[in-house]
Amino acid sequence: MSSAEERKKEYYYNKAKEEGYRSRAAYKLKQIQNKFYVIKRNNVVVDLGAAPGGWTQVASEYVGKKGKVVSVDKQAISPFDLPNVEVLRMDMRDERLPAVLLSLTGGLADVVLSDLAGNVTGNWSLDADRQNYLVQLALETCHRLLKNDGTFVTKVFRGPTIQELDEEIKPWFEKIRRFRPPATRKKSAEEFYICTGYKGNVEEA
Ligand SMILES: C[S@@+](CC[C@H](N)C(=O)[O-])C[C@H]1O[C@@H](n2cnc3c(N)ncnc32)[C@H](O)[C@@H]1O
Repeated sequence: MSSAEERKKEYYYNKAKEEGYRSRAAYKLKQIQNKFYVIKRNNVVVDLGAAPGGWTQVASEYVGKKGKVVSVDKQAISPFDLPNVEVLRMDMRDERLPAVLLSLTGGLADVVLSDLAGNVTGNWSLDADRQNYLVQLALETCHRLLKNDGTFVTKVFRGPTIQELDEEIKPWFEKIRRFRPPATRKKSAEEFYICTGYKGNVEEA
């Protein structure tokens, strides 16, 4: 890592510590929100791949007291002292997940967030394939849980099969914008898709 990159990492690490966020990743969601205003007051938000919980903390602030955030990860998420947040330990591959999530949200969600990521091996193509799979699982969750006209924010890796993934996501949304938050490390292959205007679940419109 270059020294500029190290400084950036340290900067966000210290900032998260000072401001009481559980991860540096919190600033990525803040930067996404500042640019695209994805989460609105009173929204119901599902946060996939939420541990340790930086995005959940940020989403909880944006939805406010009358909103709700339901966060899931295969790793344990330490409980929050936040009345509008529910946490769930479950694997995205578990087919019971959508039903359990629905019971916690109490209905379809306005926003599905996914910062899901596996352990990076350094093999670019393998890592990209694994990331694509996680994005597909997150998209399936949208099909079960996202309101018509809802928003899906997902982490993707730029890799050889990104176009295939694009083709899978595109038909379902009015608009997809790509964004690399400044808090993302320069060398990282990650970027985020901001997908708005979900076209499924039309019967719920
Ligand atoms: C980059 S971290 C998320 C950081 C989080 N957004 C934050 O702000 O603290 C990615 C998370 O995805 C989770 N994850 C990866 N594969 C998963 C799976 N199959 N099911 C559930 N969670 C998974 C990992 O356990 C990890 O906690």
